[in-house]
Amino acid sequence: MTLVRGTFLDTPVAGELRTLDGVLQVEDGVVVARGPAQDFPAADVDLRGGVVLPGLVDTHVHYPQVRAIGGLGMPLLDWLDRCALPEECKLAAPAYAAAVATEFVDGLVRAGTTTALVFGSHFATAVDALFTEAARVGLRVTSGLVVSDRLLPAELLTDPARALREGRELAARWHGVGRSRYAVTPRFSLSCSAELLESCAALLQELDGAVFTSHVNENLAEVAAVEQLHGGYVDSYDERALLGPRSVLAHDVHPTDGELDVLALRGTAVAHCPTSNAALGSGLFPLRRHRAAGVRVALGSDVGAGTGFSLLKEGLQAYFAQQLLGAEGLPLTPADLLHLATAAGADALGLGDQVGHLSVGMRFDAVWLRPPEGSTLDVVLRSAAGPDDALAKVFALGGPADVAGVWVDGTRIRG
Ligand code: GUN
Ligand code: ZN
Repeated sequence: MTLVRGTFLDTPVAGELRTLDGVLQVEDGVVVARGPAQDFPAADVDLRGGVVLPGLVDTHVHYPQVRAIGGLGMPLLDWLDRCALPEECKLAAPAYAAAVATEFVDGLVRAGTTTALVFGSHFATAVDALFTEAARVGLRVTSGLVVSDRLLPAELLTDPARALREGRELAARWHGVGRSRYAVTPRFSLSCSAELLESCAALLQELDGAVFTSHVNENLAEVAAVEQLHGGYVDSYDERALLGPRSVLAHDVHPTDGELDVLALRGTAVAHCPTSNAALGSGLFPLRRHRAAGVRVALGSDVGAGTGFSLLKEGLQAYFAQQLLGAEGLPLTPADLLHLATAAGADALGLGDQVGHLSVGMRFDAVWLRPPEGSTLDVVLRSAAGPDDALAKVFALGGPADVAGVWVDGTRIRG
């Protein structure tokens, strides 16, 4: 049993910020009680100074692209050809993949991310390296083999039978083992034949509780190319029964109204990746239309098109994007940003009953943000008008340098 003292901010209800300046009692990794400090004996862990948030949830991030971060100035398809794919080819070498896996998991933890849906590699050995490193560190990851059978460099291509066999092997080793789960992951329907998407559907059906993830409607040239190849973009997945409540599609910057209705009907979530959308010039995310249609939305860093691992930065950029949309935008409060970065992500990944907020019964996945003394965030937090204002300042100025501690299942994995 551990008693943790601090200022805890979370959003068990969307849009409503909850604050506790007090104590959480954690047993076997689970919050079993919470309340004011005077209701508990002296705390074992003192996190006063700064704020404690639920561990951040990244619903879309690419493991093989850590070293590709910062490739600015290109639209999606050029960026893939020139930046992302050449780097991803290098993960064929197991030693290279192991080094990148270490950098990747470390990058997530340093940013305060405790749960992630990770786009793996096209190479099974590299996916194995990622799961191995995530398990060593203690991160909660859902990931899988990325598959494609057209358009990409030859060394990244597979075929439907091999995709199924390698996916099965990886899932047998990692799905439901510790904190790891498997995600069936066609790269995007532009790089997949109908037969390959069907093999993905077969694997998904075999795996109880597995997640499906891919990309959708990111860039107008990409959307037009998918239209030529498959017909509709959302339909390319839906026709193979790949969309359900355990499915997460990244981006969806350019959906039709009909596509939003299909996503809502299936319960499929969208990973909104705002720094990536800005960096690649993909467009401004139509959050208001997603909400109006009833589509679940969470946040993704989309490293390496996204500009870093911090979901605080993604939250701020999501806010900017909605501001820039004017009347078509959805104004976001600090509580909305925290919800998007935590509980909404947990819900998108089917983990909403375990993580995403710090209520009694939830796992103690948490990040302690305590800015270095004298830093601008430290200075402005001291004059915050209240919890909402403090949280706004955290999103405006916070980043990995402010992460003083990270916990998963009550175990401190950093700081
Ligand atoms: N679409 C297909 N692959 C990718 C990728 O690696 N990054 C992004 N942003 N979009 C993609
Ligand atoms: Zn992506």
